[in-house]
Order: sequence, then structure tokens, then C-alpha cells
Amino acid sequence: MGIEKLIRKELLSFGGYSAAASPEVLEGRIDVAAKDMIKIDANENPYGCSPRVNKALARYAQFNIYPDDGQEKLRKLLSGYAGVDAKYIVAGNGSNQLIDLLIRLLVNPGDEIINCTPTFGIYSFSAKLCNGVLVEVPRDEAFNIDVAKVKAAITTKTKLIFVTNPNNPTGNLTPEKDLIELLDTGVPIVVDEAYYEFSRKTVVPLMSKYENLIVLRTLSKWAGLAGLRIGYGLFPPVIADFILRIKIPYNVNVAAIIAVEESLKDKDYLMASVQRLIDERQRLLDQVQKINWLTVYPTQSNFILCRIRNIDAGNLHKQLQLKGILVRYFDQPRIKDCIRFSVGKPEHTDALIKTLREIGG
Ligand SMILES: Cc1ncc(COP(=O)(O)O)c(C=O)c1O
Repeated sequence: MGIEKLIRKELLSFGGYSAAASPEVLEGRIDVAAKDMIKIDANENPYGCSPRVNKALARYAQFNIYPDDGQEKLRKLLSGYAGVDAKYIVAGNGSNQLIDLLIRLLVNPGDEIINCTPTFGIYSFSAKLCNGVLVEVPRDEAFNIDVAKVKAAITTKTKLIFVTNPNNPTGNLTPEKDLIELLDTGVPIVVDEAYYEFSRKTVVPLMSKYENLIVLRTLSKWAGLAGLRIGYGLFPPVIADFILRIKIPYNVNVAAIIAVEESLKDKDYLMASVQRLIDERQRLLDQVQKINWLTVYPTQSNFILCRIRNIDAGNLHKQLQLKGILVRYFDQPRIKDCIRFSVGKPEHTDALIKTLREIGG
């Protein structure tokens, strides 16, 4: 008997999450050194983290000691930033981990999770791992959520509804009145605000009114900490307590805790780089709009989605990659002919536009 026969049957066809290829893996396969690649494929912050983080980590002398498993200091720090009491907060090894924990906490095999597609891939990834049934409610032509259709999809088995706001990869926001209409159904609604600092729209003030509201945030984007894996969730306190109980011990490492503390001390610096990206987003949009074989979707995030005409989007992704420009292509219904560009530095915009013009003729 081969050991693979022991694998859960429903996982044998599981494809996993297809993350963007990293520069060190691509180096050698293409003619561009990793350090010269323009990485605009994962919505990271090209300005990096606060220099205070680097200094504090270099000084720290206790990496041999486990972090506080209960996250007391960390939850207080995040509470100050998010403006809600620490009892609502749990931090994760990236907000991805909190998506996984929440599904594991609430979803029995056969329970349903509503997903408004196209959207971020981790909800379906974790749902499948937990034997949840994914109920897909496609967004409309402009990628807005069809609230009536979402409500019609709710059954007695619905445990969660995910709404990414602004949505990834489409960049658009769901109006607050639509979110309120969903909250009024009483079903737990997860509003994933990974890009909140770029949209400046949040439903956090609704937390005191709605017991079924969960908000997810991350420091990967605005604070430039994607590599240290730190995100947080705002949950009804009873759910937060259970998430703390079921999470793996010490899920947030000491370096990430230090990084949060230093980032929050340097908020002005980080918000200035967020503002630079918001300004650059407009310049990138203006430039891309001038290319007649691209149709760009409005965005409130740190990336833009473009529909490609006359050129195969998968092929364009490869051609850009050969030139060291890493962008995101999704081989998925509705967006097969689209490419997502993260907003980079001005020189990244210039190189991208120049290369798109060369490729497109
Ligand atoms: C909508 C959304 N949620 C969550 C995440 C993951 O964040 P983290 O790095 O904190 O796991 C991302 C990252 O791309 C995202 O786009």
C-alpha cells in the first residue's frame, strides 16, 4: 500500500493555492537578476517597512524565548490602531491564518460558505480543506456584489459570507448600505479589509451594533510587513476567545510583534508611503488608460485590474515575466483575459508602460 492511499479522498484533487512565483525562483529561468525584477504581482509595499522595524530587530536579543501566546501586548497595540477594545482582537500569522481558523471554528463538513466571485482565493482554499461547501455568487459585470442574489443563496446551512472590501483582484468597494443589508440577515459576514489603508473605508464602527460582523485586516500591505506574516481580525468577543483557544500556540512570532510595535510608532512615515502609492495609483491609471488594448477597472486599492484585448492575457503575463516585470494573471472564469498590476514606485510604472507599449506595438 502506498502511503498516498492514506490521504483524505477529497484532498486528492486539491490543487492548493497558486501563489505568485518568487524572484529567487525565477532567477536563472529568465535573463534578469532577482534584484532587478519589478515585483508588482502580490500587492506588496515597494517602499518597505518602517526603518524602525529593522533597527529594533537588529537590537533584539531574545529570539530564543517564545512570544506571549495570549498576545496581550500585541492585542492592546492593535486595539489602539483599530479603535476597538482588545477583547475583539486576535492576531494571526498573516490574516490568511485567521480566515483558516474562523472556517475551522464555524464550518462543519457540508456547511455552506458564500463567496462573491471573482475574489481572493484563500476563502475557497480553506473552505475546501474543511469540507465546507462553497456557494459561489458571481459579481455583476462591474464586479459589484448582487445583494439580492447573495441573500437568495442563504440557507439554513450558511455559516459565513465573505466580502473582500475593496475586492481583490477587482479593486472595487461594496457600498456600506449593501453590507448593512447583508448584516441584517444575521448570517456572519466577514469583511476583509486587507486594503483598508488605501480605500480609507471601514465598517469597524458597525461592530458595536452587529454581533455577526467580523473584520479582517493585515499589516502586509500598508505597513510593508508581508514577509513577517502579521494580520489581525476583529471578532465578536466570544468568537475571539475561541479563535485564541484553537489557534496553534505562539502563532505570531517575536519579530512580527516587534514589527507591529515599531510600525505603530512610525505611523506617519508609513502613511506617507501609503499616500505616495495612492498618488501613483492615479498616475498608473492615467497611463494605462492611454493604451487602447487595455480596459482598466476603477480601484480603491493598491492594485489595478485590466482587461486585455487582442493579446492572450496568459501570454502577456509570460512576456512581461521574461522582461523581469512580475504581474498577476488569474486563470479563472470572468478574469481569464485580465491582468492585475500592483501599484509600484514611479519608475516601476514607467518601465511597465514602456514594456506594454513595446509588446502591444
Ligand atoms: C483580500 C486579502 N485578504 C487577505 C490577504 C492576506 O493577507 P496576509 O498577508 O495578512 O495573510 C490578502 C493578500 O493578498 C488579500 O488580498
